[in-house]
Amino acid sequence: MKSKVYIETFGCQMNVADTERAATGLRKAGYELTASAETADVVLFNTCSVRERAEQKVITRIGEVRNGTQRSGKQLKPLIGVMGCVAQLEGDSIFKNAPAVDLVIGTRATDRLPSLIERARKGESSVIDLGERQEGEFWDVSPAERRSPYVAFVPIIEGCNKFCSFCIVPYSRGREKSRSAVEIVAEVQGLRLLGYKEVHLIGQNVNSYRPQSRQGLERYSGATAFSRLLRAVADTGMERIKFTTSFPRDFHPDIVAALEEYPNLCDWIHLPVQSGSDRILKAMRRGHSADDYLRRVDAIRGSKRRLSLTSDIIVGFPGESENDFEDTMRLVRACEYDGLFIFKYSKRAGTPAAILEDAVLETDKTARFLELEELQSSLQNRIYNDYIGRTVSVLVERESTRSSEDMTGHSTCHKVVNFRSHQTKPGEIVDVLISQAKPYSLYGKLMSEGAN
Ligand code: 5AD
Ligand code: SF4
Repeated sequence: MKSKVYIETFGCQMNVADTERAATGLRKAGYELTASAETADVVLFNTCSVRERAEQKVITRIGEVRNGTQRSGKQLKPLIGVMGCVAQLEGDSIFKNAPAVDLVIGTRATDRLPSLIERARKGESSVIDLGERQEGEFWDVSPAERRSPYVAFVPIIEGCNKFCSFCIVPYSRGREKSRSAVEIVAEVQGLRLLGYKEVHLIGQNVNSYRPQSRQGLERYSGATAFSRLLRAVADTGMERIKFTTSFPRDFHPDIVAALEEYPNLCDWIHLPVQSGSDRILKAMRRGHSADDYLRRVDAIRGSKRRLSLTSDIIVGFPGESENDFEDTMRLVRACEYDGLFIFKYSKRAGTPAAILEDAVLETDKTARFLELEELQSSLQNRIYNDYIGRTVSVLVERESTRSSEDMTGHSTCHKVVNFRSHQTKPGEIVDVLISQAKPYSLYGKLMSEGAN
Protein backbone atom coordinates (compact mmCIF):
# COMPACT_ATOMS: atom_id res chain seq x y z
CA MET A 1 0.00 0.00 0.00
CA LYS A 2 1.18 3.49 -0.81
CA SER A 3 2.27 5.70 2.06
CA LYS A 4 -0.06 8.60 2.73
CA VAL A 5 1.06 12.19 3.23
CA TYR A 6 -1.04 14.99 4.70
CA ILE A 7 0.08 18.61 4.25
CA GLU A 8 -1.41 21.46 6.31
CA THR A 9 -0.69 24.94 4.99
CA PHE A 10 -0.42 28.18 6.95
CA GLY A 11 0.29 31.71 5.81
CA CYS A 12 0.59 33.35 2.43
CA GLN A 13 -0.11 32.33 -1.16
CA MET A 14 3.55 31.44 -1.62
CA ASN A 15 3.08 28.67 0.93
CA VAL A 16 -0.07 27.47 -0.85
CA ALA A 17 1.91 27.34 -4.10
CA ASP A 18 4.80 25.54 -2.45
CA THR A 19 2.45 22.96 -0.94
CA GLU A 20 1.09 22.30 -4.45
CA ARG A 21 4.64 21.86 -5.70
CA ALA A 22 5.50 19.53 -2.80
CA ALA A 23 2.38 17.44 -3.44
CA THR A 24 3.28 17.11 -7.13
CA GLY A 25 6.76 15.84 -6.28
CA LEU A 26 5.51 13.45 -3.62
CA ARG A 27 2.89 11.92 -5.90
CA LYS A 28 5.52 11.44 -8.61
CA ALA A 29 7.66 9.63 -6.06
CA GLY A 30 4.80 7.20 -5.33
CA TYR A 31 3.14 8.76 -2.29
CA GLU A 32 -0.59 9.27 -1.92
CA LEU A 33 -1.89 12.63 -0.66
CA THR A 34 -4.62 12.50 1.97
CA ALA A 35 -6.96 15.12 3.39
CA SER A 36 -6.74 14.11 7.04
CA ALA A 37 -3.92 13.95 9.55
CA GLU A 38 -5.53 10.95 11.28
CA THR A 39 -5.04 8.58 8.34
CA ALA A 40 -1.61 9.85 7.29
CA ASP A 41 1.76 8.11 7.60
CA VAL A 42 3.51 11.46 7.18
CA VAL A 43 2.12 14.78 8.46
CA LEU A 44 3.74 17.95 7.12
CA PHE A 45 3.13 21.49 8.36
CA ASN A 46 3.95 24.22 5.87
CA THR A 47 4.52 27.09 8.26
CA CYS A 48 4.44 30.89 8.43
CA SER A 49 6.42 33.13 10.77
CA VAL A 50 5.46 36.61 9.59
CA ARG A 51 3.80 37.40 12.92
CA GLU A 52 4.12 35.75 16.32
CA ARG A 53 0.57 34.49 16.32
CA ALA A 54 1.09 32.58 13.05
CA GLU A 55 4.08 30.80 14.56
CA GLN A 56 2.17 29.95 17.74
CA LYS A 57 -0.64 28.34 15.74
CA VAL A 58 1.74 25.81 14.20
CA ILE A 59 3.15 24.75 17.55
CA THR A 60 -0.38 24.21 18.86
CA ARG A 61 -1.27 22.12 15.79
CA ILE A 62 1.82 19.90 16.15
CA GLY A 63 0.72 19.19 19.72
CA GLU A 64 -2.83 18.40 18.63
CA VAL A 65 -1.70 15.94 15.95
CA ARG A 66 0.73 14.23 18.28
CA ASN A 67 -1.89 13.86 21.03
CA GLY A 68 -4.52 12.79 18.52
CA THR A 69 -2.41 9.93 17.20
CA GLN A 70 -1.51 8.87 20.73
CA ARG A 71 -5.19 8.71 21.68
CA SER A 72 -6.18 6.78 18.57
CA GLY A 73 -3.79 4.04 19.70
CA LYS A 74 -2.33 3.64 16.22
CA GLN A 75 0.54 1.18 16.26
CA LEU A 76 2.73 3.27 14.04
CA LYS A 77 2.81 6.97 14.81
CA PRO A 78 3.09 9.20 11.76
CA LEU A 79 6.30 10.99 10.86
CA ILE A 80 5.93 14.71 11.55
CA GLY A 81 7.70 17.29 9.38
CA VAL A 82 7.91 21.08 9.57
CA MET A 83 8.45 22.93 6.30
CA GLY A 84 8.20 26.61 5.28
CA CYS A 85 9.37 29.74 7.09
CA VAL A 86 9.46 28.43 10.67
CA ALA A 87 11.56 25.48 9.48
CA GLN A 88 14.05 27.74 7.69
CA LEU A 89 14.38 30.15 10.60
CA GLU A 90 14.38 27.80 13.58
CA GLY A 91 16.38 24.99 11.95
CA ASP A 92 17.43 22.15 14.22
CA SER A 93 16.25 23.93 17.38
CA ILE A 94 12.81 22.64 16.38
CA PHE A 95 13.91 19.09 17.25
CA LYS A 96 14.76 20.28 20.75
CA ASN A 97 11.64 22.37 21.30
CA ALA A 98 9.19 19.98 19.68
CA PRO A 99 10.56 16.44 20.14
CA ALA A 100 7.66 14.95 18.14
CA VAL A 101 9.14 16.45 14.95
CA ASP A 102 11.14 14.07 12.75
CA LEU A 103 11.91 16.31 9.75
CA VAL A 104 12.75 19.97 9.16
CA ILE A 105 12.48 21.08 5.53
CA GLY A 106 13.60 24.62 4.59
CA THR A 107 11.80 26.93 2.17
CA ARG A 108 13.93 25.88 -0.79
CA ALA A 109 14.14 22.15 -0.10
CA THR A 110 10.62 21.33 -1.33
CA ASP A 111 11.77 19.22 -4.27
CA ARG A 112 13.95 17.06 -2.03
CA LEU A 113 11.02 16.09 0.22
CA PRO A 114 10.63 12.52 -1.12
CA SER A 115 14.25 11.60 -0.38
CA LEU A 116 14.16 13.34 3.01
CA ILE A 117 11.03 11.41 4.01
CA GLU A 118 12.65 8.21 2.76
CA ARG A 119 15.62 8.79 5.08
CA ALA A 120 13.32 9.36 8.06
CA ARG A 121 11.33 6.22 7.24
CA LYS A 122 14.53 4.18 7.22
CA GLY A 123 15.04 5.24 10.82
CA GLU A 124 17.30 8.29 10.56
CA SER A 125 16.34 10.76 13.28
CA SER A 126 16.19 14.55 13.02
CA VAL A 127 16.43 14.79 9.22
CA ILE A 128 17.06 18.40 8.17
CA ASP A 129 17.61 20.28 4.87
CA LEU A 130 17.94 24.07 4.86
CA GLY A 131 19.76 24.20 1.49
CA GLU A 132 19.09 26.26 -1.62
CA ARG A 133 17.05 25.21 -4.64
CA GLN A 134 19.28 23.21 -6.97
CA GLU A 135 20.27 24.03 -10.55
CA GLY A 136 17.78 22.68 -13.03
CA GLU A 137 14.87 22.60 -10.58
CA PHE A 138 11.82 24.22 -12.03
CA TRP A 139 8.32 25.05 -10.85
CA ASP A 140 6.30 21.93 -11.60
CA VAL A 141 2.73 21.72 -10.30
CA SER A 142 0.27 19.12 -11.46
CA PRO A 143 -3.33 20.36 -11.91
CA ALA A 144 -4.50 17.59 -9.59
CA GLU A 145 -2.68 19.22 -6.70
CA ARG A 146 -4.02 22.74 -7.26
CA ARG A 147 -6.41 24.13 -4.69
CA SER A 148 -8.92 25.28 -7.30
CA PRO A 149 -9.67 24.03 -10.83
CA TYR A 150 -10.34 27.62 -11.99
CA VAL A 151 -7.92 29.93 -10.18
CA ALA A 152 -4.20 29.11 -10.18
CA PHE A 153 -1.31 30.69 -8.31
CA VAL A 154 1.77 31.11 -10.48
CA PRO A 155 4.91 32.22 -8.61
CA ILE A 156 7.08 34.56 -10.70
CA ILE A 157 9.62 35.62 -8.07
CA GLU A 158 10.70 34.05 -4.80
CA GLY A 159 12.37 35.71 -1.82
CA CYS A 160 12.95 39.35 -0.93
CA ASN A 161 15.91 41.75 -1.04
CA LYS A 162 14.22 44.69 0.63
CA PHE A 163 14.95 44.02 4.32
CA CYS A 164 12.19 46.20 5.73
CA SER A 165 13.24 46.44 9.37
CA PHE A 166 10.15 44.68 10.80
CA CYS A 167 10.04 41.79 8.37
CA ILE A 168 11.31 38.23 8.69
CA VAL A 169 10.74 37.26 5.04
CA PRO A 170 14.22 38.10 3.68
CA TYR A 171 15.62 35.69 6.29
CA SER A 172 13.07 32.92 5.82
CA ARG A 173 12.87 33.02 2.02
CA GLY A 174 16.30 34.27 0.98
CA ARG A 175 17.19 36.55 -1.91
CA GLU A 176 14.91 37.47 -4.80
CA LYS A 177 15.01 34.90 -7.57
CA SER A 178 12.88 35.42 -10.69
CA ARG A 179 11.60 32.57 -12.83
CA SER A 180 12.24 32.78 -16.55
CA ALA A 181 9.52 34.47 -18.61
CA VAL A 182 9.44 31.53 -21.03
CA GLU A 183 8.64 29.13 -18.19
CA ILE A 184 5.93 31.42 -16.73
CA VAL A 185 4.24 32.02 -20.09
CA ALA A 186 4.31 28.29 -20.89
CA GLU A 187 2.70 27.51 -17.52
CA VAL A 188 -0.09 30.04 -18.10
CA GLN A 189 -0.68 28.69 -21.62
CA GLY A 190 -0.92 25.18 -20.17
CA LEU A 191 -3.36 26.33 -17.47
CA ARG A 192 -5.54 27.98 -20.09
CA LEU A 193 -5.74 24.76 -22.08
CA LEU A 194 -6.77 22.94 -18.90
CA GLY A 195 -9.69 25.34 -18.44
CA TYR A 196 -8.32 27.68 -15.79
CA LYS A 197 -10.04 31.07 -15.90
CA GLU A 198 -7.80 33.13 -13.67
CA VAL A 199 -4.13 33.19 -12.70
CA HIS A 200 -2.54 35.11 -9.86
CA LEU A 201 1.09 35.97 -10.57
CA ILE A 202 2.53 35.85 -7.07
CA GLY A 203 5.68 36.87 -5.23
CA GLN A 204 6.71 38.92 -2.20
CA ASN A 205 7.37 41.77 -4.65
CA VAL A 206 6.14 40.89 -8.12
CA ASN A 207 7.14 44.22 -9.62
CA SER A 208 10.78 43.62 -8.63
CA TYR A 209 10.71 40.83 -11.25
CA ARG A 210 14.16 40.62 -12.86
CA PRO A 211 14.80 37.45 -14.89
CA GLN A 212 18.34 36.46 -15.88
CA SER A 213 17.48 36.56 -19.57
CA ARG A 214 15.11 38.66 -21.66
CA GLN A 215 14.01 35.55 -23.53
CA GLY A 216 10.26 35.51 -24.03
CA LEU A 217 9.91 39.26 -23.43
CA GLU A 218 11.60 40.54 -26.63
CA ARG A 219 8.35 41.33 -28.38
CA TYR A 220 6.87 43.37 -25.55
CA SER A 221 7.30 47.02 -24.67
CA GLY A 222 7.50 48.48 -21.18
CA ALA A 223 10.12 50.18 -19.04
CA THR A 224 10.39 47.29 -16.58
CA ALA A 225 10.69 43.54 -17.02
CA PHE A 226 7.54 43.14 -14.92
CA SER A 227 5.36 45.23 -17.21
CA ARG A 228 6.72 43.32 -20.22
CA LEU A 229 5.89 40.08 -18.43
CA LEU A 230 2.36 41.32 -17.75
CA ARG A 231 1.93 41.96 -21.47
CA ALA A 232 3.39 38.57 -22.41
CA VAL A 233 1.11 36.76 -19.96
CA ALA A 234 -1.91 38.78 -21.14
CA ASP A 235 -1.10 37.70 -24.71
CA THR A 236 -1.69 34.05 -23.80
CA GLY A 237 -5.41 34.87 -23.80
CA MET A 238 -5.87 33.71 -20.18
CA GLU A 239 -9.22 35.20 -19.25
CA ARG A 240 -8.24 37.00 -16.04
CA ILE A 241 -4.80 37.85 -14.69
CA LYS A 242 -4.20 39.24 -11.21
CA PHE A 243 -0.84 39.91 -9.56
CA THR A 244 0.22 40.40 -5.94
CA THR A 245 2.10 41.88 -4.03
CA SER A 246 3.50 45.12 -5.53
CA PHE A 247 6.28 47.04 -3.78
CA PRO A 248 5.85 50.86 -3.82
CA ARG A 249 9.48 51.77 -4.57
CA ASP A 250 9.49 49.59 -7.70
CA PHE A 251 6.00 50.57 -8.82
CA HIS A 252 6.50 52.10 -12.26
CA PRO A 253 3.63 53.80 -14.17
CA ASP A 254 4.17 51.35 -17.06
CA ILE A 255 2.25 48.81 -14.97
CA VAL A 256 -0.80 51.07 -15.23
CA ALA A 257 -0.12 51.46 -18.97
CA ALA A 258 -0.12 47.65 -19.40
CA LEU A 259 -3.43 47.41 -17.52
CA GLU A 260 -4.95 49.99 -19.87
CA GLU A 261 -3.75 48.05 -22.92
CA TYR A 262 -4.95 44.58 -21.93
CA PRO A 263 -8.47 44.17 -20.52
CA ASN A 264 -7.62 40.67 -19.25
CA LEU A 265 -5.13 42.22 -16.80
CA CYS A 266 -7.47 42.74 -13.85
CA ASP A 267 -8.34 46.10 -12.30
CA TRP A 268 -6.82 45.46 -8.87
CA ILE A 269 -3.49 46.55 -7.35
CA HIS A 270 -2.29 45.52 -3.90
CA LEU A 271 0.31 48.13 -2.88
CA PRO A 272 1.14 47.97 0.86
CA VAL A 273 2.22 51.26 2.43
CA GLN A 274 2.74 50.03 6.05
CA SER A 275 2.66 53.59 7.52
CA GLY A 276 1.76 57.17 6.55
CA SER A 277 4.50 58.75 8.66
CA ASP A 278 7.84 59.60 7.02
CA ARG A 279 9.63 59.10 10.32
CA ILE A 280 8.23 55.60 10.73
CA LEU A 281 8.68 54.71 7.03
CA LYS A 282 12.34 55.60 7.47
CA ALA A 283 12.64 53.46 10.61
CA MET A 284 10.92 50.67 8.69
CA ARG A 285 13.57 51.11 5.93
CA ARG A 286 10.93 51.11 3.22
CA GLY A 287 12.97 53.35 0.93
CA HIS A 288 10.12 55.74 0.15
CA SER A 289 8.26 58.64 1.77
CA ALA A 290 4.51 59.07 2.14
CA ASP A 291 4.59 61.53 -0.78
CA ASP A 292 6.47 59.07 -3.02
CA TYR A 293 3.72 56.59 -2.27
CA LEU A 294 0.93 59.09 -2.94
CA ARG A 295 2.48 59.85 -6.35
CA ARG A 296 2.12 56.15 -7.22
CA VAL A 297 -1.47 56.28 -6.06
CA ASP A 298 -2.06 59.35 -8.28
CA ALA A 299 -0.82 57.37 -11.29
CA ILE A 300 -3.23 54.56 -10.38
CA ARG A 301 -6.16 56.92 -9.80
CA GLY A 302 -5.35 58.82 -13.02
CA SER A 303 -5.79 55.67 -15.10
CA LYS A 304 -8.44 55.44 -17.81
CA ARG A 305 -9.67 52.32 -15.99
CA ARG A 306 -11.04 52.46 -12.47
CA LEU A 307 -8.45 50.46 -10.61
CA SER A 308 -9.17 48.98 -7.24
CA LEU A 309 -6.44 49.61 -4.67
CA THR A 310 -5.70 47.69 -1.45
CA SER A 311 -2.94 47.97 1.14
CA ASP A 312 -1.35 46.64 4.35
CA ILE A 313 -0.63 48.81 7.39
CA ILE A 314 1.22 48.04 10.60
CA VAL A 315 0.17 49.97 13.71
CA GLY A 316 2.35 50.28 16.81
CA PHE A 317 5.78 50.02 15.19
CA PRO A 318 8.42 50.92 17.86
CA GLY A 319 8.45 54.67 18.46
CA GLU A 320 5.15 55.32 16.65
CA SER A 321 3.69 58.45 18.31
CA GLU A 322 0.11 59.71 18.19
CA ASN A 323 1.31 62.17 15.52
CA ASP A 324 2.78 59.40 13.39
CA PHE A 325 -0.47 57.52 13.70
CA GLU A 326 -2.40 60.63 12.65
CA ASP A 327 -0.22 60.75 9.51
CA THR A 328 -1.30 57.20 8.77
CA MET A 329 -4.96 58.10 9.26
CA ARG A 330 -4.50 61.06 6.88
CA LEU A 331 -2.87 58.88 4.23
CA VAL A 332 -5.64 56.30 4.47
CA ARG A 333 -8.25 59.05 4.00
CA ALA A 334 -6.35 60.28 0.93
CA CYS A 335 -5.93 56.84 -0.65
CA GLU A 336 -9.54 55.66 -0.32
CA TYR A 337 -8.55 52.02 -0.30
CA ASP A 338 -10.95 49.37 -1.56
CA GLY A 339 -9.59 47.13 1.18
CA LEU A 340 -7.03 47.35 3.97
CA PHE A 341 -5.25 44.69 6.02
CA ILE A 342 -4.29 46.14 9.40
CA PHE A 343 -1.69 44.43 11.60
CA LYS A 344 -0.45 45.18 15.07
CA TYR A 345 3.34 45.28 15.03
CA SER A 346 4.75 41.95 16.13
CA LYS A 347 8.40 41.75 17.14
CA ARG A 348 10.34 39.19 15.10
CA ALA A 349 13.68 38.02 16.55
CA GLY A 350 16.56 38.61 14.16
CA THR A 351 15.02 41.59 12.36
CA PRO A 352 16.58 45.07 12.77
CA ALA A 353 13.41 46.41 14.43
CA ALA A 354 13.60 43.76 17.16
CA ILE A 355 16.32 45.71 18.98
CA LEU A 356 14.53 49.07 18.75
CA GLU A 357 13.40 50.52 22.04
CA ASP A 358 10.30 52.53 22.69
CA ALA A 359 7.80 49.75 22.19
CA VAL A 360 4.21 50.93 21.86
CA LEU A 361 1.92 49.74 24.67
CA GLU A 362 -0.34 46.86 23.71
CA THR A 363 -3.37 48.92 24.75
CA ASP A 364 -2.30 51.75 22.41
CA LYS A 365 -1.73 49.31 19.56
CA THR A 366 -5.23 47.96 20.05
CA ALA A 367 -6.76 51.46 20.23
CA ARG A 368 -5.00 52.48 17.00
CA PHE A 369 -5.98 49.26 15.30
CA LEU A 370 -9.64 49.87 16.14
CA GLU A 371 -9.55 53.55 15.17
CA LEU A 372 -8.00 52.77 11.79
CA GLU A 373 -10.39 49.88 11.27
CA GLU A 374 -13.34 52.18 11.91
CA LEU A 375 -12.04 54.82 9.51
CA GLN A 376 -11.42 52.20 6.81
CA SER A 377 -14.85 50.67 7.26
CA SER A 378 -16.57 54.03 6.75
CA LEU A 379 -14.46 54.81 3.66
CA GLN A 380 -14.95 51.29 2.34
CA ASN A 381 -18.66 51.54 2.88
CA ARG A 382 -18.78 54.54 0.55
CA ILE A 383 -16.67 52.80 -2.10
CA TYR A 384 -18.77 49.63 -1.94
CA ASN A 385 -22.00 51.66 -2.14
CA ASP A 386 -20.65 53.28 -5.30
CA TYR A 387 -20.88 49.88 -6.99
CA ILE A 388 -24.67 49.82 -6.68
CA GLY A 389 -26.11 50.03 -10.18
CA ARG A 390 -22.85 48.90 -11.79
CA THR A 391 -22.25 45.57 -13.50
CA VAL A 392 -19.17 43.55 -12.56
CA SER A 393 -17.71 40.43 -14.09
CA VAL A 394 -17.59 37.54 -11.59
CA LEU A 395 -15.74 34.24 -11.70
CA VAL A 396 -18.13 31.87 -9.92
CA GLU A 397 -16.30 29.85 -7.28
CA ARG A 398 -18.90 27.96 -5.22
CA GLU A 399 -22.24 27.98 -3.45
CA SER A 400 -22.40 30.70 -0.80
CA THR A 401 -21.95 29.45 2.78
CA ARG A 402 -24.74 31.80 3.92
CA SER A 403 -27.44 30.58 1.57
CA SER A 404 -27.74 27.58 -0.73
CA GLU A 405 -29.77 29.80 -3.09
CA ASP A 406 -26.74 32.00 -3.72
CA MET A 407 -23.46 31.58 -5.54
CA THR A 408 -20.25 33.40 -4.67
CA GLY A 409 -17.11 34.48 -6.50
CA HIS A 410 -14.68 37.35 -7.03
CA SER A 411 -14.94 40.31 -9.37
CA THR A 412 -12.03 41.38 -11.56
CA CYS A 413 -11.44 44.12 -8.93
CA HIS A 414 -11.10 41.28 -6.38
CA LYS A 415 -14.24 41.92 -4.36
CA VAL A 416 -16.38 39.09 -3.05
CA VAL A 417 -19.67 39.11 -4.98
CA ASN A 418 -22.74 37.02 -4.04
CA PHE A 419 -25.79 36.63 -6.25
CA ARG A 420 -28.94 34.55 -6.49
CA SER A 421 -28.67 31.74 -9.03
CA HIS A 422 -29.78 28.17 -9.44
CA GLN A 423 -28.20 27.45 -12.78
CA THR A 424 -24.68 28.92 -12.74
CA LYS A 425 -21.81 26.58 -12.03
CA PRO A 426 -18.39 27.09 -10.49
CA GLY A 427 -15.87 28.09 -13.15
CA GLU A 428 -18.29 30.21 -15.16
CA ILE A 429 -17.69 33.92 -15.68
CA VAL A 430 -20.91 35.92 -15.38
CA ASP A 431 -22.05 39.54 -15.27
CA VAL A 432 -23.68 40.63 -12.02
CA LEU A 433 -25.60 43.90 -11.55
CA ILE A 434 -24.85 45.13 -8.02
CA SER A 435 -27.88 46.01 -5.90
CA GLN A 436 -26.53 45.96 -2.35
CA ALA A 437 -23.27 46.75 -0.56
CA LYS A 438 -22.27 44.83 2.57
CA PRO A 439 -19.17 45.58 4.70
CA TYR A 440 -16.90 43.10 2.90
CA SER A 441 -18.94 41.97 -0.08
CA LEU A 442 -21.32 43.04 -2.82
CA TYR A 443 -24.69 41.50 -3.62
CA GLY A 444 -26.37 41.54 -7.01
CA LYS A 445 -28.47 40.04 -9.73
CA LEU A 446 -27.27 37.71 -12.47
CA MET A 447 -27.34 39.53 -15.82
CA SER A 448 -25.80 37.03 -18.21
CA GLU A 449 -25.35 33.32 -18.43
CA GLY A 450 -21.76 32.27 -18.05
CA ALA A 451 -19.47 31.12 -20.79
CA ASN A 452 -17.87 27.81 -19.93
N1 5AD B 1 4.48 42.73 12.46
C1 5AD B 1 3.26 43.04 11.99
N2 5AD B 1 2.92 42.90 10.70
C2 5AD B 1 3.88 42.46 9.85
N3 5AD B 1 3.86 42.24 8.52
C3 5AD B 1 5.06 41.77 8.14
N4 5AD B 1 5.88 41.69 9.20
C4 5AD B 1 5.16 42.12 10.28
C5 5AD B 1 5.47 42.28 11.65
N5 5AD B 1 6.67 42.00 12.14
C6 5AD B 1 2.70 42.53 7.68
C7 5AD B 1 3.05 43.60 6.64
C8 5AD B 1 3.09 42.83 5.36
C9 5AD B 1 2.06 41.75 5.63
C10 5AD B 1 2.13 40.57 4.74
O1 5AD B 1 2.31 41.38 6.96
O2 5AD B 1 2.00 44.56 6.61
O3 5AD B 1 2.77 43.61 4.23
FE1 SF4 C 1 8.96 41.92 4.04
FE2 SF4 C 1 9.51 44.37 3.05
FE3 SF4 C 1 10.21 42.15 1.68
FE4 SF4 C 1 7.62 42.80 1.91
S1 SF4 C 1 9.20 44.02 0.88
S2 SF4 C 1 8.53 40.74 2.19
S3 SF4 C 1 7.53 43.66 3.96
S4 SF4 C 1 11.03 42.80 3.67
